[in-house]
Amino acid sequence: MIDAPKYVNEKVKIGVWLTNKRSSGKIAFLQLRDGTAYFQGVVVKNNVSAETFELAKEVKQETSMWITGIVHEDSRSHFGYEIEVETIEVVSESHDYPITPKEHGIDFLMDHRHLWLRSSRPHAVMRIRNEVIKATYDFFIDEGFIKIDAPILTGSAPEGTTDLFHTTYFDRDAYLSQSGQLYEEAGAEAFGKVFSFGPTFRAEKSKTRRHLIEFWMIEPEMAFMHQEESLDIQERYIAYLVQRVLDNCSMELKTLGRDVETLKKYTIVPYPRISYDEAIELLKKNGFKLDWGVDFGSPEETFLADQFDQPVFVLNYPKAIKPFYMKPHPTRDDVVICADLLAPEGYGEIIGGSERAVDYDYLYEQIVKAGLDPKEYSWYLDLRKYGSVPHSGFGLGLERALTWITGEDHVREAIPFPRLLNRIYP
Ligand code: 4AD
Ligand code: MG
Repeated sequence: MIDAPKYVNEKVKIGVWLTNKRSSGKIAFLQLRDGTAYFQGVVVKNNVSAETFELAKEVKQETSMWITGIVHEDSRSHFGYEIEVETIEVVSESHDYPITPKEHGIDFLMDHRHLWLRSSRPHAVMRIRNEVIKATYDFFIDEGFIKIDAPILTGSAPEGTTDLFHTTYFDRDAYLSQSGQLYEEAGAEAFGKVFSFGPTFRAEKSKTRRHLIEFWMIEPEMAFMHQEESLDIQERYIAYLVQRVLDNCSMELKTLGRDVETLKKYTIVPYPRISYDEAIELLKKNGFKLDWGVDFGSPEETFLADQFDQPVFVLNYPKAIKPFYMKPHPTRDDVVICADLLAPEGYGEIIGGSERAVDYDYLYEQIVKAGLDPKEYSWYLDLRKYGSVPHSGFGLGLERALTWITGEDHVREAIPFPRLLNRIYP
C-alpha cells in the first residue's frame, strides 16, 4: 500500500492483517496493515455480499486476509489513502492476540517483541533504520570508500579487555568483536578509504538507555588523512543521514511525533567544536564537581550538548581514559588527538573517533602499557612497519544515532531484537 498513489481509483488485491476495527449496522471500518503501511478499509453493507459484511464484523485482530477493493484518497487519515473493500478472503485466523490496542508495560512489549514489531511505532523506527542503513552505503560509496568487512570472531581487543565477550575457537580463546577498527586500518592501507558496517558486542554491565550488548557500528577509516579532515567527513555524514530521513521518512516521523524543524537544524554544518579542557571549565562553571582527567557520564554529556543547537565535537580527551591506538598530541603528553560527537537533546555520544598513532615504537609501548600482549597485535604493528601513513577514522553507533534521529527515549527501540543486560529473548 505504500505505493497507493499509483493506484488511486483502481481496483487492487492486497494481503493484509487486521489491526483494529469498528462497525455499525451499515458500515465496517477495518484498520489494516500490509507490512508497508497502516490504512483503513471501508466495507459498506449495501455494496458487498452478506457474507463479506458478516466477515468484516467478525474478523479478529491479526487475522491475515486477501482483500480486493478500490483505492481512494483520504485526506483525513494519517496515511492519506484508504481502500473501499469489495471482497475478503481469510488466509489464516488469529485468536487472542496479546498486544491489544490498550496500553502495555515495556517488559510485556519486549517479551513480545516478535509481535510488537507489527505495531506502528516500532514499524516507523525500523523503516527509518532502513533508510539510515541505505543512506550510509550511499554516502560512503559516493565518497569513494570501499566496504571492507571486519571479522566478528577475533583474537584481539581494540577497545580494552573489560567488556569482551569470551568464547572458544576450537582449542583456543576468542572474542566477539567490539569494533572492526584495527582491521579497517589494514583496509585503509590497502584501499585508501574503507568502511565496515557490522554487529559489535560489548559485555558492559551498564543498564542505561544508551547501552546495548549487541549493536551495529559503521567504522570508516581513511589513509593519508588527519583528524580535521575526518571531522569534516563525520559532520557531513551525520547531516546527510538526517537530510535523507527528512526527505524520505516524513510519514514515519509523523507517526513518531518527531519535530521536523528540530531535525532540520542538524543538517547545517559545520558543527561546533570544543576541547575537552574547555568542556571541563564549562562544566565546573556550572556547578559540576569534577576534575580534569575524568570521563564524562550522561549528565555531563547532556549538559555540554545542551549548550548548542547542533551536535558538538569534544576534542582531545585525556590519554589515560582513551584506547591505546590514538595519536599522541604533538605538544602535550596528557591528551590524544580524538573527538567524540555528542548529540543534542540528551542523547550523548554517537561517534567516537581519532587520528591513529603511526609510530611503531610508540604503539608497541602503548600496547604493553595497556596490559595487552604485543604478540597478539603483531599483525597490527606490521601496519606501522611497511609505509605507515597518517590516518584517521571513527565509529558511529547505528542505534545511538537512530534513537536520536527518531526521538525515541531508549536505544532498545532502535534495533529489531535488542540484547540488553537482562534480555536475550526473543
Ligand atoms: O567510542 P567507541 O567505543 O569507539 C570505538 O569502538 C572505535 N574503535 C571506533 C572507531 O574509531 N572506529 O564506540 C563507537 C560508538 C559510540 O560512539 C556509540 O555510538 C556506539 O559506538 N556504542 C554503543 N552503542 C550502543 N550500545 C553500546 N554499548 C555502545 N558502545 C558504543
Ligand atoms: Mg566512545
